[in-house]
Amino acid sequence: MAIRNILKKGDSGLEKKSREVKDFNQRLHTLLDDMRETLIESRGLGLAAPQVGVLRRAVLVVDTSGEEEKIIELINPVILESDGEQEGPEGCLSVPNVWGIVKRPLYVKVCAQDRFGNTFETESEGITARAFCHEIDHLSGTLFVDICEKIMSAEELEQMYAETEADETEQ
Ligand code: NI
Repeated sequence: MAIRNILKKGDSGLEKKSREVKDFNQRLHTLLDDMRETLIESRGLGLAAPQVGVLRRAVLVVDTSGEEEKIIELINPVILESDGEQEGPEGCLSVPNVWGIVKRPLYVKVCAQDRFGNTFETESEGITARAFCHEIDHLSGTLFVDICEKIMSAEELEQMYAETEADETEQ
């Protein structure tokens, strides 16, 4: 396994549409293994193949819903159903030190293939649903900064939380 370089906003590769994965071969497995190592090292919640310069429809999402975190590999993912709405802060390994408030569905059901080409469905809510949407957006060349309502620095985000907590204490 190897750590791959993560492209940053401004790189045209991040704005392109990724192509369907058709060959579930060793090359794909090496890509997924490298993405996993890169994701763990960078402590993100997800990583899409175009972020490491490979324009193929493959993403990793950290599922935080269980007792133990696990990384789900989704090849050729499609959102089948979504429900509800959540609004919250989102960041991206390709847009370091920037946060944005993004509206996402509260629940999504996704159909995808695993690294061997087997089709499966998975459901998620909350942060994990947000991560699914964010990573799948990468496959069409969309970054959260393209769709967010407000862009903030890490300091501004902290400030917003501090104010929210202060409001809650006052009530
Ligand atoms: Ni991202």
